[in-house]
Amino acid sequence: MVILMIGPPGAGKGTQVERLSRRYCLDKVGTGDILRQEVVKKSELGVKVEGYMKKGQLVPDDIIIDVVAGRMEWGSGCRGYLLDGFPRTQEQAQRLDHLLQERGEKIDLVFNIEVSEPELIRRISGRRICTKCFRLYHIDYLKPQVDELCDYCGIPLIQREDDREEVVRKRLTLYREETEPLLEYYRCQSKLIDINGNSHTEEVFRQISAYIDSHLTHGSRSKKAELK
Ligand code: AP5
Repeated sequence: MVILMIGPPGAGKGTQVERLSRRYCLDKVGTGDILRQEVVKKSELGVKVEGYMKKGQLVPDDIIIDVVAGRMEWGSGCRGYLLDGFPRTQEQAQRLDHLLQERGEKIDLVFNIEVSEPELIRRISGRRICTKCFRLYHIDYLKPQVDELCDYCGIPLIQREDDREEVVRKRLTLYREETEPLLEYYRCQSKLIDINGNSHTEEVFRQISAYIDSHLTHGSRSKKAELK
């Protein structure tokens, strides 16, 4: 099974993917997370991509596709893949189709998490992360047990460099220009499911899980109305 998670910065893709991967035994492939880990390690890849990420620009397609292809080559002991933040351009979408075709796989479901802009800004400005385990927190919605410290690693949480307001504006614009057109691409293939991501984490998880359960039971997407 291959599931894609699309949505603007701060929509909650990473939060949902974390939980869904555990519930459905799906291997999560989050391009943002993979790149951030490389930046922290100061690897060759990390050095190459750091500048783009800091400025809120998209990393070039060729680099990203190599990262995803390499990650999927490891194979997975899981039932399939949950792709978070990939594809983001038409080129990436086409190369993903090709990659999956070569592996005899296909995309099953594409979730489009929709969140209003003021809520996106609230989520991004309050987001904190641990630079060791990369767990996510939020100053209001998901507080650590001890102020500003990771519950698991005990080290200080940080704000992502690309979460500064001017960079966030740039990321949102790029999302509208480069990634939003992909929604139509998947809608035409009857794979797209719009999710109201404005509600709390549990409710968004319930909505997405209902579609995955239905897909697993019936092998195809059910109509929205049946699940409401
Ligand atoms: P990436 O890390 O993928 O950033 P993004 O897509 O902009 O998404 P975010 O991580 O900002 O948000 P999210 O939707 O995962 O929300 P989250 O769950 O954290 O990419 C970063 C950079 O890497 C890009 O700018 C680019 O440079 C590069 N890159 C990555 N992929 C690329 C690609 N394919 N092509 C080219 N370049 C690429 O939630 C946000 C906050 O809200 C958290 O604090 C969370 O606790 C809270 N929250 C989540 N859900 C809820 C809820 N329902 N209610 C209340 N709070 C919530």
